[in-house]
Amino acid sequence: MKRKVIVIAGVIAVVAIAITVFMKMMGGSGVGIDNNPELEVKGDSNVLVAYFSWSGNGQQMAKWISEETGGELFRIVPSESYGEDFDSCADRAKDELDNEIRPELSEHIDIETMAQYDVIYLGFPVWWYDLPMPVWTFLEEYDLSGKTVIPFFSHNGSSNGANSVNRVKELANGATVLTENALSLRGSNVADSEKEVKDWVKNFSK
Ligand SMILES: Cc1cc2nc3c(=O)[nH]c(=O)nc-3n(C[C@H](O)[C@H](O)[C@H](O)COP(=O)(O)O)c2cc1C
Repeated sequence: MKRKVIVIAGVIAVVAIAITVFMKMMGGSGVGIDNNPELEVKGDSNVLVAYFSWSGNGQQMAKWISEETGGELFRIVPSESYGEDFDSCADRAKDELDNEIRPELSEHIDIETMAQYDVIYLGFPVWWYDLPMPVWTFLEEYDLSGKTVIPFFSHNGSSNGANSVNRVKELANGATVLTENALSLRGSNVADSEKEVKDWVKNFSK
């Protein structure tokens, strides 16, 4: 009996270590986040480039998309930061996803400004094979009817985005979501991908 308990405890410990190591590998590397990025959006363009990024890859992709389209940048910022520690970020992200918690955001776009945009490029990292919860909050906050949403994301292995892109389609009420055209980049390749990102954008301006 005692032996059985020891074996079961051993198996649980090995599985827990394996999950921890796997998630650390999935965590990947980021180009570095700028925590004081762009100015307020004004609705001067009909293109919005909205993104959530924890370690900077999505932020870099968003900047290139904005340069190419002239679109206004908007960073999706949770009121309570995920901090810099991977483990606590991963634990909180998992808890929010499992419990479908929508974290509050600290930045918002007013209704009149949002109404000016026809196209929204929406950027995010894949988190736990899904869309990070701050992006759920963002999508549910606005009336996106009639708009075109074009997803772009980075990952560390889930190159098809796992469930994230379908989640955008599910949550972006009334919008046309170009799921088939989403841009996917491995996080560690982002720094060298300016041309790929800008060439991808050209698909939508033809
Ligand atoms: C909490 C957390 C969960 C993650 N889950 C996944 C995952 O399920 N699949 C994957 O490929 N990458 C996963 N990653 C890696 C990120 O998607 C990848 O590093 C991405 O490039 C980060 O983008 P960012 O720098 O814009 O935050 C995860 C990273 C974090 C922090």
